[in-house]
Amino acid sequence: MTDPGERLRNSLTADSAPGGPPVEFDSPIAMEAMRATRVLHAAHQEPFPVPGRIRVITVANQKGGVGKTTSTVNLGVALAMYGLRTLVIDLDPQGNTSTALGVEHTVGTPSIYDTLVGDSPLVEVAAPTTASPLLRCVPATIDLAGAEIELVSMVAREHRLRRAIETYLSEVPADERPHYVLIDCPPSLGLLTLNALVAGDEVLIPIQCEYYALEGLGQLLSNIDLVRAHLNPGISVSTILLTMYDGRTKLADQVADEVRNHFGELVLSAVIPRNVRVSEAPGYGQSVLTYDPGSRGATSYVEAAKELAERGAHLSPAAPPPQAVAAPPPPPATPPLAALVLGEPAAIQRLTGRHSS
Ligand SMILES: Nc1ncnc2c1ncn2[C@@H]1O[C@H](COP(=O)(O)OP(=O)(O)O)[C@@H](O)[C@H]1O
Ligand SMILES: [Mg+2]
Repeated sequence: MTDPGERLRNSLTADSAPGGPPVEFDSPIAMEAMRATRVLHAAHQEPFPVPGRIRVITVANQKGGVGKTTSTVNLGVALAMYGLRTLVIDLDPQGNTSTALGVEHTVGTPSIYDTLVGDSPLVEVAAPTTASPLLRCVPATIDLAGAEIELVSMVAREHRLRRAIETYLSEVPADERPHYVLIDCPPSLGLLTLNALVAGDEVLIPIQCEYYALEGLGQLLSNIDLVRAHLNPGISVSTILLTMYDGRTKLADQVADEVRNHFGELVLSAVIPRNVRVSEAPGYGQSVLTYDPGSRGATSYVEAAKELAERGAHLSPAAPPPQAVAAPPPPPATPPLAALVLGEPAAIQRLTGRHSS
């Protein structure tokens, strides 16, 4: 009888032989070890392609608990592990992204609040992470909860995050400039999410494979349309990611089909399964990729990040027209904020010019 360890080593070596036949693994542990080896080693051998231009991606869905934070964290770590410089911005006062990346975010820590409400440059608040030397995180402290209100009276309040990111990108040396900026939004359509939609070029919407998954999405999409019309002509929904897919239920398949019918090519083929390791990882201040690289959760986030990166490689280098968003908008008679934050029908009508009086 051969030693199981040796059998596993032999299998792994045989499996990695170029052109060799796929090897059958005869135990779940061996399968998991093989997946972990792939996640960790492939990262050094097969970097993801560099995007055609810097991608600023806003991860938004006003529903809570759909996987925004989990996706921001794990896609961010995957992109960085596979060679792409990534900056993750935590824009949720709960600070869950900061927790999951093991970044300090107690009250008083320099954070995104200091950038939005104060004038601290992002370069001063971006912290290194233990997950990867290529990954930095701008943490959120609970102070950010007050920012929704404090920002209301500020000049160019919807543009503050965009300005901060533009300054950051123009000031950091080229060899430190991120390829990806991922912004994790809070579960609301308030001024923080609005700042993120004005700052981004793309929106990534995580959709949980559950009943009611599409409910409320219309409101998010019409808000994105309003932002495109009035504040950021460069924004569009580029990516939909199906999360918490449970293959044992018919419902998950029905939701996935419905989302694919509705959004077509925007939906990544990689689907994130419901996986307990994904939900355990933040408790250890880690992403699932570092916590349990052999888990289904880790491999599916690597697949999703790979697809995202491959799509990004085809983007044209030309940035969206900066002058359209760089110039501060003239102070509107009716602040768009009212329409966007409150969803007040009259304000939306005024904003969209459909009001007759
Ligand atoms: N694929 C998954 N499998 C299992 N649990 C998950 C998965 N994705 C997210 N979770 C858990 O679901 C909860 C909500 O996820 P989260 O990313 O915080 O959502 P959001 O940021 O949209 O509010 C968290 O407890 C998280 O750990
Ligand atoms: Mg969250």
